[in-house]
Amino acid sequence: MSDFKDRVAIVTGASAGIGLSCARMLAEGGAIVVVNARRAGRLDELVEIDHQRVKAVAGDAAEPEVIEVMLEAAKKAAGREADLVIANAGRGLRGSPLDSEEAEWEEVLRINTLAAARLMRAAIHRMFAEVGDYQGPPKQPRDVVVLGSTVGRNLSPFSSFYGAAKAAVHMMAEAMRREAGPKGVRVTTIEPGVVASEFQSAAGYDPKAFGEFMESMAPVLTPDDVARAILFGCSQPAGVHLSEMMLRPTRQAYP
Ligand SMILES: NC(=O)c1ccc[n+]([C@@H]2O[C@H](COP(=O)([O-])OP(=O)(O)OC[C@H]3O[C@@H](n4cnc5c(N)ncnc54)[C@H](OP(=O)(O)O)[C@@H]3O)[C@@H](O)[C@H]2O)c1
Repeated sequence: MSDFKDRVAIVTGASAGIGLSCARMLAEGGAIVVVNARRAGRLDELVEIDHQRVKAVAGDAAEPEVIEVMLEAAKKAAGREADLVIANAGRGLRGSPLDSEEAEWEEVLRINTLAAARLMRAAIHRMFAEVGDYQGPPKQPRDVVVLGSTVGRNLSPFSSFYGAAKAAVHMMAEAMRREAGPKGVRVTTIEPGVVASEFQSAAGYDPKAFGEFMESMAPVLTPDDVARAILFGCSQPAGVHLSEMMLRPTRQAYP
């Protein structure tokens, strides 16, 4: 589980929460890791783990140029393409399509859905190029993981516009899985329930009301809980694919 020394990873949204946990576990497990987020200073603690193996690419994960720089940084550091790409950067939004802040809609779709689609597509095409004409059983694991959400499956009164952006992620990832699986690339959707992170404040949830909701199901998930699940999936033999994982706090009844 903790041995990733043969892997070449990219993690977006690595300055906090789930992305930070994934990046730290990969770096401590020996992987080459490219880490991304907009807050460059927050990536320093990851680079400090190993300057040779951990490379920071600060910037907006929805920008095609930033995505290209991440993919090239991984290739330069490893001498081959990234084989464990986690499209994690994202944010929530308080409210439904009728009462959420319309000015936030484009950003919610842009970072949760379009940024993920761009990175996943670019990474998969590079993986395909490495596989070439070979059509047999996969010789090594190649993973593209995206963060969906329980609210992308079950409507939540707290955040149903955000849920719509994540529902699109689920459909897109499954479509990519169908295309990429036969070529040996595992496209995996992770659907967490409530995870305590910076997510709640970024989404604009009312701290008191949402705090009480979280308290009702305590303990909620930690970013490390989700990262362990993601990396468990990526640690399976190349011919085994845990393609979707929903993980909730045990006491979370809904969504
Ligand atoms: N927390 C939950 O309850 C929960 C549940 C289900 C799914 N998820 C999903 O899990 C993922 C991670 O969430 P989290 O809980 O770890 O949230 P978090 O603690 O708020 O972390 C979000 C990360 O995304 C980065 N980010 C946001 N916009 C970005 C952009 N445009 N470009 C690059 N990086 C960007 C942030 O870094 P910067 O601000 O430094 O850019 C931060 O590192 C998200 O996709 C989220 O939707 C979370």
